[in-house]
Amino acid sequence: MAPPVQPREMGRDLARRDGPDKVRGLATYADETPVVAPLYCAIVQATIGRGAVTGIDADVAAALDGVVAVLTPDGAERLADTEDAELAVLQSADVAFRGQVVAAVLAETFEVAREAADLVAVTYRDDGHDVRLSPDRDDLYTPESVNPGYPTDTHEGDVAAAMATAPVTVERTYTTAMYHNNPMEPHATTARWDTSGGGHLTLWDSTQGVHPTRKTVATVFGLDPHQVRVVCPYVGGGFGSKGTPHVNVVLAALAARAVPGRPVRLALTRQQMFALAGYRTPTVQRMQLAAERDGRLTAIAIDVVEQTSRIKEFAEQTGVPTRTMYAAPNRRTTHRLAALDVPVPSWMRAPGECPGMFGPEVALDELAERLGMDPVELRIRNEPEVDTETGKPFSSRNLVACLREGARRFGWADRDPRPGIRRHGDWLVGTGVASSVYPTMAMASSTARVRFAGGRYTVTIGAADLGTGSSTVLPQIAADALGVAVGDVDVLIGDTAHPEASVAGGSSGTATWGSAIVEAAGAFRDKFGAQPPDDAEAEGSIQPNEATERYAMSAFGAQFAEVAVHADTGEVRVPRLYGVFAAGRILNPRTARSQLVGGMTMGLSMALHEQSLVDPRFGHVVNHDLAEYHIASCADVADLQAHWIDERDPHVNPMGAKGIGEIGIVGTAAAVVNAAWHATGVRVRDLPLTLDRVLGLTG
Ligand code: MOS
Repeated sequence: MAPPVQPREMGRDLARRDGPDKVRGLATYADETPVVAPLYCAIVQATIGRGAVTGIDADVAAALDGVVAVLTPDGAERLADTEDAELAVLQSADVAFRGQVVAAVLAETFEVAREAADLVAVTYRDDGHDVRLSPDRDDLYTPESVNPGYPTDTHEGDVAAAMATAPVTVERTYTTAMYHNNPMEPHATTARWDTSGGGHLTLWDSTQGVHPTRKTVATVFGLDPHQVRVVCPYVGGGFGSKGTPHVNVVLAALAARAVPGRPVRLALTRQQMFALAGYRTPTVQRMQLAAERDGRLTAIAIDVVEQTSRIKEFAEQTGVPTRTMYAAPNRRTTHRLAALDVPVPSWMRAPGECPGMFGPEVALDELAERLGMDPVELRIRNEPEVDTETGKPFSSRNLVACLREGARRFGWADRDPRPGIRRHGDWLVGTGVASSVYPTMAMASSTARVRFAGGRYTVTIGAADLGTGSSTVLPQIAADALGVAVGDVDVLIGDTAHPEASVAGGSSGTATWGSAIVEAAGAFRDKFGAQPPDDAEAEGSIQPNEATERYAMSAFGAQFAEVAVHADTGEVRVPRLYGVFAAGRILNPRTARSQLVGGMTMGLSMALHEQSLVDPRFGHVVNHDLAEYHIASCADVADLQAHWIDERDPHVNPMGAKGIGEIGIVGTAAAVVNAAWHATGVRVRDLPLTLDRVLGLTG
């Protein structure tokens, strides 16, 4: 790892560099890329949950004025690699879930394409589907590992024995719902295939990683990566759903290759995103806590049941945060999956940590209630000295500082622990707390190039800015690494023509790309000194950080919620939600606050509204639009604050910065549910916290 970079520009509250272009509509998104004479691609989706297409009659659709081609499993190009079944579009007649792509129409306008898609007549053999997730299924299986490669199960000591002998225990089951990423910009790709010179594919794709997308597309089509260019200057939100390529990218490329000379635009509709762009699995979390009367945990266990699709496994690492969060000598975490006839689950903001800090953090609140102990104090009492899983010390761990600072800001000290006793008019009022955590990661490889010309420095790297602020923060890192003013540095991202960069995932973007930039800046200065000639250029790549072998690295936080529940209707409001985080050096307070507030808002949304409801008769999400799938809006967000403590961590990377994109959503729902219990005395263990559940009418 390069030596620490001294902050001058890092830490400054700079406005977003891409802000003016975005608010003036000058930023071009994937579907708006100017191309000559594009065709529009509309998708035909399966209307059965499992079986096969037996016939496609496209005559009526093809006869429509403006239709250029209808792509079907019979006629479509054979892909070179179909190992990723999610991406093997139009490669067989099989249907694995309702909503899967079974045909596509190419037409001169979007409207004609959609009309023609409706006119494609598909017949099926219906084999009957199974989409019911239940912990009682007899076909649950143990995946080999859980995302992104953690052990599936862990055991330490004897939880059963501790549960049998402890004076105080909690044993409860908690559930989180199925959730869909709903970035404002839908998944979209503009594709152009040039046949000259062996063929060259250009994809303007809304993605969290241009190089990873290029690699996948090249593999699927059997192309050399240099035959593929992926460009993505702007992303209108991703949250993980654009972290891995979905079927739209492959279909757009396949369509462009089917009509050489005509670029193709493919944008998923909002409804299509509920089948084709990944989602967070629902989870069932059986929790066991055992404690001494003084609150010290003697055991903590989580047994998770969740779903995956039959055609491609994704195992959410829901049990992972329980492995390292609190000191308890006896620990168990397990994951079991049901493989169902459902769309393929994938990444959604803080996979694992987000759902996986719901059960444990509500269970801790229940334990505090049984012990008659303050829930902040209970957490502090179970602070581990080292990472319980690996035995390594933490590079820095300031959960306790976050809890104390949050309690101070929130006014927690005056809290009466008794539930259901505070009434303001028609509203019952309560407060609750939960912890947040997210691992501090960096990807293994990324390269940056520094170039000097005309008195300015230009840094290029194939990084992504999905609204997170990396376009603004990377110049701050580059300026400090070069020892120049941020105004003298341009950073260009989002193009495979730039040096290869990792995916914006796992809150690792800034750490990974920033480290590459620091190395490139160091190489540049070593080569050219402080007075570089015009056209001077140097590259650098992130180096292995040996500190990761000696230290466990995570960001921590604490969230405090005030909840008001209407005594008659059960309506839930959250007048206050405060988060305090410890995430290393905050490189830009403005973009950082936006990330943390955004995560907390998404957590509030998870607590109160969000759930994808599958109709088991048909196998699809019935509330597949923003009228029915409710997301927190401005009216839901009242006094919502994100703060941080001044944390110095010399071990994580040369910037001293931990990832902040995901931690904001971790723990929020538990804090809200705990506050709702304090308000009403009703303990809701299933999300979302809808009024029927608060009133105790449904489970
Ligand atoms: Mo994030 S869910 O790791 O893209």
